[in-house]
Amino acid sequence: MAQIIHRPRRLRKNPAIRRMVRENHLHPEDLILPLFLVPGERIKKPVLSMPGVDQLSIDQAIEVARQAQELGLGGVILFGIPAEKDATGGDARSQEGIVQQAIEQIKAAVPDLYLIADTCFCEYTDHGHCGPIKGESVDNDATLTLLGEAAVVQAQAGVDMVAPSGMMDGMIQAIRGALDTAGFEEVPILSYAVKYASAYYGPFREAAENTPSFGDRRSYQMDAANRIEALREAALDVEQGADLLMVKPGLAYMDILRDLKNHFQLPLAIYNVSGEYAMVKAAAQKGWIDEKGVVLETLTGFKRAGADLILTYHALDAARWLSEA
Ligand code: PBG
Ligand code: ZN
Repeated sequence: MAQIIHRPRRLRKNPAIRRMVRENHLHPEDLILPLFLVPGERIKKPVLSMPGVDQLSIDQAIEVARQAQELGLGGVILFGIPAEKDATGGDARSQEGIVQQAIEQIKAAVPDLYLIADTCFCEYTDHGHCGPIKGESVDNDATLTLLGEAAVVQAQAGVDMVAPSGMMDGMIQAIRGALDTAGFEEVPILSYAVKYASAYYGPFREAAENTPSFGDRRSYQMDAANRIEALREAALDVEQGADLLMVKPGLAYMDILRDLKNHFQLPLAIYNVSGEYAMVKAAAQKGWIDEKGVVLETLTGFKRAGADLILTYHALDAARWLSEA
């Protein structure tokens, strides 16, 4: 047998050398924790399909926000479930709306924590779609005006960043214009630029109470089979002034994240969605997988694939595990 010259195993011999040649690192500041806000006080209502995740009243969310800050998370992203839903999602555009109140109060209590607001209407409409309905689907251009209003009230409440998730054409341009006109040129936009219509959103719909009352979101969210279209969606949002781009869901779309990393110079986020979380939790509860191992491996995989930010329901646990290591 010929002599072996190259032996990659030399660089795997012990933890010290493995650490030195490690290419990607996961840090608490890479992680963004989603929070579900509900009206009321002292409410901490478990989301059954997402063990460890609760719908929170603002006072409870403040406690979680403190933990997020202490553990050094990058920030939190806020979703609101209003007391009253209507045809156009009015609560999302009101200063008294659940998320606007939450932004004000969390900012006051934990001023250094970075606050992102999800900017969409599906949790606020009585039909559960991401904008007002015209005919059988969402009225794209009517939604744009409303999105601008929602982003402005979020900014007025003191949010650090807005994150439109509704996949409306022209949404970045509309939101940028509305924010700038209102004097919020410095509020960045994280665009859910590449969001697929996905069965992985199942548990979120229990958490956020945004299941469409008719039809589905396939006329606005992307088809899972498409890759070139993802580059087109991202390019349009870059042109319109997006500051960061997001790919969603995570696990089944890591090739898309890498494509974006190779084509664009903006920071990238990935959303490790509710169904991905639920699968890990369910298997871990049965003792079928090692939760910590699986979670840290998955999150590291997102970094390797090109993510700068990771939105994940595992954020607090992962940050704790990282600080033990
Ligand atoms: C809708 C929205 C969805 C999620 C966040 N915002 C998906 C949807 O209901 O279509 C899903 C997040 C998750 O599953 O964790 N704007
Ligand atoms: Zn939506």
